[in-house]
Amino acid sequence: MKLTAEQLDRFNTHGYLFFPGLFKPDEVNTLLDAVPALYSRQEAYNVREKGSEAVRTNFAAHLYSEPFARLARHPRMVLPVQELLQEELYMHQFKINGKMAFEGDVWQWHQDYGTWKNDDLMPTERAMNVAIFLDDVNEYNGPLMFIPGSHRKGVIDAQHDLTTTSYPLWTVDNALITQLVQRAGGKNGGIVSPKGPAGSMILFHSCLVHASTSNLSPWNRVAVYLSLCAASNHIRRHKRPEYIAHRDFTPIECLPDDCLRTAYPVDLPWKDGMPASALETSIEPLALAA
Ligand code: SIN
Ligand code: MN
Repeated sequence: MKLTAEQLDRFNTHGYLFFPGLFKPDEVNTLLDAVPALYSRQEAYNVREKGSEAVRTNFAAHLYSEPFARLARHPRMVLPVQELLQEELYMHQFKINGKMAFEGDVWQWHQDYGTWKNDDLMPTERAMNVAIFLDDVNEYNGPLMFIPGSHRKGVIDAQHDLTTTSYPLWTVDNALITQLVQRAGGKNGGIVSPKGPAGSMILFHSCLVHASTSNLSPWNRVAVYLSLCAASNHIRRHKRPEYIAHRDFTPIECLPDDCLRTAYPVDLPWKDGMPASALETSIEPLALAA
């Protein structure tokens, strides 16, 4: 898939691209069928909603689940990001967000690059977020909301919110959100939320301000969020555990386009459990070879 000039222009202007129905139902089902077994594991990489057993986010499934390891190398996902960033990519973060029916909690307004910069010392914003819907997303089950064009503000001030949900996040305050929404068109397009069938994909800039509300509907909103980083822009600190911020900066090699239909062999380094080293953290920057 080669992006058109119009798509490149739209990405630069609005900070995201939406591809409804990019993955077909049989491809999506291969992934969705694997989720309950992953969510049932009592492991640090399953972060549950505050006061609930529902999984908010599962980290690093591409290191221990075959279908997700194949998705992590899917050319329909990797190649457009490579085209936008003009460099080889490594996987910085891999999440399967539950946003389960009735239980899924909010994600406050934030930029992802704020967290990657503050916590992981990622040098620049040359990284991309990809969301792939495993369930249909509608206006009721907590769709992602964007402020179009907000990525052009660069990195904006954020506060480390450790209390609102079960997962710490660098969040943007309401006054600034109000200004950004106003600047983006206020009630006329100042907030957008791409909705569509399972299998749809969104690419969005790491500085694009986004959020989602809770899911009070009876429909799950399971979605995979992959964060791909330009290889030269790898993180410079391991302040967060490895299952959250990856430490293997090897560029991704794509599998063929039918890799969700054909069981190409993939490496699953955490298949028999996460190594103890994945929990070790340090506030010291990495000592890099000159
Ligand atoms: C995120 O911002 O990382 C997740 C947002 C969502 O799942 O709605
Ligand atoms: Mn985010």
